[in-house]
Amino acid sequence: MKSYQKIIFLFGLIPGTMWFSLTTGQNKKILRKSVQDSVFTETQANQGSKLYRKACVRCHHPRQFVGPAYMDSWTGARAHDFLEVIRRTMPTENPGSLKREEYVEIVAFLFRLNSIPSGSREMSSDPTALKLIYIEGPYKRAQQSKKSKNKG
Ligand code: HEC
Repeated sequence: MKSYQKIIFLFGLIPGTMWFSLTTGQNKKILRKSVQDSVFTETQANQGSKLYRKACVRCHHPRQFVGPAYMDSWTGARAHDFLEVIRRTMPTENPGSLKREEYVEIVAFLFRLNSIPSGSREMSSDPTALKLIYIEGPYKRAQQSKKSKNKG
């Protein structure tokens, strides 16, 4: 390349990459969600509670996963990361034995235990969607209301 061609090339490249990083950065900001933005439904958490009782509770009292003592280890990670650790390792004798959707429901249940709010939109089991949900506090033990007392 002749030097004037290099200059033309570079002057084209710099604004190009700037534009690219600006727009992708913006998209990330728009799409990025906090786990506090009501990212799962009450139905999912209820379903998760049932599954948890079946597959997990004999080894883990749910208290183990409540509050900053445990959840702070996940702050800044994505719902995807949390789900994958559980899916790949739990239950210990048969990891991955539940459906993806069921692991999502268990994760929703664990979030609700930490008073993370539910909402009207389901948490998808699609990895791309789960990678946009970032875990952050506050985490506090859910106060059981009369209504949800028997649901876990
Ligand atoms: C047979 C016993 C057993 C069963 C069943 C079991 N686990 Fe575990 N689990 C363990 C052990 C052992 C560890 C590692 C030590 C610990 O953290 O308690 C662990 C660790 C974990 C962790 C911590 C992972 C981390 O690095 O933060 C999570 C979350 C978890 N289990 C969730 C579950 C869920 C959800 C289920 C049900 C689908 C389940 N476990 C079923 C034994 C079990």
